[in-house]
Amino acid sequence: MKYDFDTVVSRQGTASLKWDIKENVLPMWVADMDFPTAPEIISALKRRVDHGIFGYSVIPQEWYQAYIDWWHTRHGFVFTADDMVFSAGVVPTLSSAVRRFSAPGENVAVLTPVYNIFFNSIVNNGRKVRPCPLKYDSGTHSYSIDPALLEEVLSDPQTSLMLFCNPHNPAGIIWSRDELDMIGRLCEKYGVTVVSDEIHCDLCDHGYKYTPFASVSEINARISITCIAPTKAFNIAGIQTSAVVAKDPVLRHRIWRQLNTDEVGEPNVFACTAACAAFCEGGRWLDELRTYIAQNREYAQEYIRKNIPVLDVVPSHATYLVWIDCSKTGIASDKLCDDILEKTGLFLSDGVQYGSGEGFFRMNIACPRSVLCEGLGRLSSYFGSTG
Ligand SMILES: Cc1ncc(COP(=O)(O)O)c(C=O)c1O
Repeated sequence: MKYDFDTVVSRQGTASLKWDIKENVLPMWVADMDFPTAPEIISALKRRVDHGIFGYSVIPQEWYQAYIDWWHTRHGFVFTADDMVFSAGVVPTLSSAVRRFSAPGENVAVLTPVYNIFFNSIVNNGRKVRPCPLKYDSGTHSYSIDPALLEEVLSDPQTSLMLFCNPHNPAGIIWSRDELDMIGRLCEKYGVTVVSDEIHCDLCDHGYKYTPFASVSEINARISITCIAPTKAFNIAGIQTSAVVAKDPVLRHRIWRQLNTDEVGEPNVFACTAACAAFCEGGRWLDELRTYIAQNREYAQEYIRKNIPVLDVVPSHATYLVWIDCSKTGIASDKLCDDILEKTGLFLSDGVQYGSGEGFFRMNIACPRSVLCEGLGRLSSYFGSTG
C-alpha cells in the first residue's frame, strides 16, 4: 500500500462532531472517517490557502469535468455539464427537493430503515414520512423490497416524492438494476419524483459495482434527480461540496431555483478545489481505502461471529457502516446502546432512529484497525460481562 491508514491521528480539540466527547468515549457512530483525506487533496487545499485571498467563488469548468469524467469512467453514467448543479451538500439538496417537489402535508416515501436525516428533511418541512419497510430475512440477515407494499405507498395520491438511498445507509445494500428499474417504473406510474442520494457510491468493495439510479432507463433519468459528492468517500464532509445531476430540464430548473432560493447553490472557497482534487488525483488513495475498509469489515464480521454470537452482522459490500442485528439479546436496541455507552464508553448508533430499525445498531468501522480492535474489544467485554 502506498497510503497509510493505520496511524491513529487524534481528532480531539478539532471541534469534531464525532470526537468532541468525554474522555474514554470511543465514537463509532456518525458517518465520518478517522483517516486524513488523500494527500493529493491536502496539497491542493494548501496551495489554495497559500494564495491568501478568500473572496467569493464561481464554479470553474474543471469542476464539471471532474465529475463527468469520474462518473463516466468509474460508474458508466454519462452526463454533461448542462445536467449539473452545484449544491453545498446532499442534505441541503434533500431539504430543498422536499420543499420543491412536494407540498406541505403530502407524503414522502422512504425505504426503511434509512439514513435518519431523511426524516428531518421531510418532517421539518411539514411533510409526512410514508415508510415502506424493507423485508428482513432473519435467516440470511438480508433485506429486500416488498414490491406490493411499495406500490401501495407510491399509489397513494398524497405521495409525491421518494427519497432513495443508493447504496443504502445503514444496511449497505447495493441495489440491483432490476430493483432500480422496478422503483423507476412504479414512481413513473404514480407520478412520484425520485431523489436518489448516491453519496456512498464510491465506497463499494472492489468487484462490487453500484448502479446509478438514473443510468438504468429513460424513465429513471426523466423522473429523478441524483445527489453525488466526494465528501463521504474522501472524508471531506466539513468542506460542504456536492452536485446534483438532473437529466430532465424541468426538474433541473426547479431544483436549481430552489437551491438558490435556499442560498445553498454557491460554493465556499474550498468546495471546488477539494472536489476537483478528489476526482482528478484521488483515485488511487480511494482504491486503497476501499481495500482497507473491506478488510476492516471482514475483521469485524469474523470477530463478532467468533466472540459475540448473540449478535448477527448484516452482510454487506458497501459503505463503512456495519448494521448489526441485536434482536437475539432480547434487549431493546436503544436501551442496549445506552447501556453499552455507559458501561464501556463505546458510542454506537441505535437502529430505532433509522425507522424500522428496532433490534439493530450501526457501527462505523472507518478507523485504523487498532481503533476497530479497541471498539470490538469493548463490545465483547460488554457481552462477556452481562453473560
Ligand atoms: C445517505 C447520506 N446522505 C447524505 C449525507 C450527508 O451529506 P452532506 O454532508 O453532503 O450534507 C450522509 C452522511 O452521513 C449520508 O449517509
